[in-house]
Amino acid sequence: MPETDLPVDIRFPHAGRVAVVTGAAGGIGLGIARVLAERGARVIAVDRAPQLHEAVRSMSSEGLEVEGAEIDITNEQAVRALIASTQRRHDRLDILVNNAAIHPKNAGERNSVAEISTAQWQEVMSVNLTAVFVLCREALPAMQARRWGRVVNISSRAGRAPVATAGAHYAATKAGIIGLSRMLASEFAGQGITVNCVAPGRISSPLTQQGSAQRQAGLNATIPVGRIGAPEEIGHTVSFLAGEGAAYLTGALIDVNGGTFMP
Ligand SMILES: NC(=O)c1ccc[n+]([C@@H]2O[C@H](COP(=O)([O-])OP(=O)(O)OC[C@H]3O[C@@H](n4cnc5c(N)ncnc54)[C@H](O)[C@@H]3O)[C@@H](O)[C@H]2O)c1
Repeated sequence: MPETDLPVDIRFPHAGRVAVVTGAAGGIGLGIARVLAERGARVIAVDRAPQLHEAVRSMSSEGLEVEGAEIDITNEQAVRALIASTQRRHDRLDILVNNAAIHPKNAGERNSVAEISTAQWQEVMSVNLTAVFVLCREALPAMQARRWGRVVNISSRAGRAPVATAGAHYAATKAGIIGLSRMLASEFAGQGITVNCVAPGRISSPLTQQGSAQRQAGLNATIPVGRIGAPEEIGHTVSFLAGEGAAYLTGALIDVNGGTFMP
């Protein structure tokens, strides 16, 4: 195993690490932030939604080291300021989890291509893919400086194979994030930095709580493990990828989907 600058306590594998998690006001991002913080990381929870502050208050009241940064990740200047202030205040940035994304729904169930305007396509690209690129580009120098870093990008089953509920814009970004991650993984492999993807299947979040209870139950019934996934279950996979033990794992993609897709 390569040397690290921090001792590893098996109960708190992320102790001393600073992690930035985007889209952490709720859903999967909150689950990821919580698991990383419970395992010792100081988490900078990023979101544009003001509910972020309630989420941060609630985790802090449990003794977790979490702080909130209310920014829109498509604002490049705000992203630069976020990375600079993280470096200034903590003198490190070890873990970056790109989780924030949007999935606009049009009137039709399937979000067919004819329904997707160019403006909507561009908006989805800008949040789900361009902002991920910018966040990686801006955060990587801090990881290079310590020759240690973990980037985990959240893709989707929709980026792996056609999914009835996803639009082409969303699927294109979620496939794109896999290619971006592989390029970054190969560029930074020799510098102690790993870059991996997690592709969730159906996970309980505000996104999947849309639609009638009957429709949700119907969708959940198709999952081989017999239930929808919990946000913390994505958090556990991210925590593994962000840990010391995953130092030899880079450019990979882990499907966490209850058995719905087994390529
Ligand atoms: N829930 C699922 O079943 C599922 C399945 C596959 C993949 N995913 C992926 O997991 C991730 C989280 O999904 P979720 O279900 O928790 O979604 P969600 O919509 O519940 O949460 C996304 C969060 O991102 C934030 N966000 C969106 N745009 C932002 C911006 N421009 N700047 C800052 N914050 C922004 C939102 O405010 C929200 O809090 C996404 O990348 C999604 O594509 C989710």
